[in-house]
Amino acid sequence: MQEPRSGNITWHAAAVNRTERERKRGHRGATLWLTGLSGSGKSTLAALLEQRLLDRGCTAYVLDGDNVRYGLNSDLGFSPLDRAENIRRIGEVAKLFTDAGVLVLCAFISPYRVDRARVRAIMADGDFIEVYVQASLAACEQRDPKGLYKKARAGGIADMTGIGSPYEPPENPEIVVDTEHTQLAESADQVLGFLEEKGYIARTGSI
Ligand code: ADX
Repeated sequence: MQEPRSGNITWHAAAVNRTERERKRGHRGATLWLTGLSGSGKSTLAALLEQRLLDRGCTAYVLDGDNVRYGLNSDLGFSPLDRAENIRRIGEVAKLFTDAGVLVLCAFISPYRVDRARVRAIMADGDFIEVYVQASLAACEQRDPKGLYKKARAGGIADMTGIGSPYEPPENPEIVVDTEHTQLAESADQVLGFLEEKGYIARTGSI
């Protein structure tokens, strides 16, 4: 944990603890960290997962790269330092949601291993589930849902991830979903299966 700048800060304990929150919700809180190239399907998968989890009575919420950059992180660009700060802030927000007993679906390119490792490090064991949303650059570039790759190839975005800026794939992610060769619904099933198997959520049909 980062030390506060001011020395006059005291941690205030809540009246309800996390176990009580989780018992009330009927499932564990956790951060599912979806990382991958732009256009790999992170946001679509996160949205689908949120819907499927809500249908099962779980509390889930999506934090999405583009959306968070409209508000909390509107002061940040795409330099390595800005991306690091983007991920740091999101990590802290996700940690709070996780403590609230929510299943947080974070959809951020988060291209640097060190930035993702820093988020994992501030979380308790098992709270951070790294999901590598895998699709080749060629596939993402072909999809190009926002036209950003085309713009980058034309010289309009110097630091586009995968073109002028690197993407470092996870080395030991908890889950890998292959969105290039698999339907998104199947990827969602894979993630939900993991959550069931590891006891984060109840199996369908069980009480
Ligand atoms: S991250 O690298 O800092 O994790 P983040 O997930 O917040 O990125 O934002 C990525 C989104 O911003 C992309 O999906 C895309 O729509 C948009 N974007 C704008 N400029 C860039 C860029 N230079 N590289 C990657 N994505 C960009």
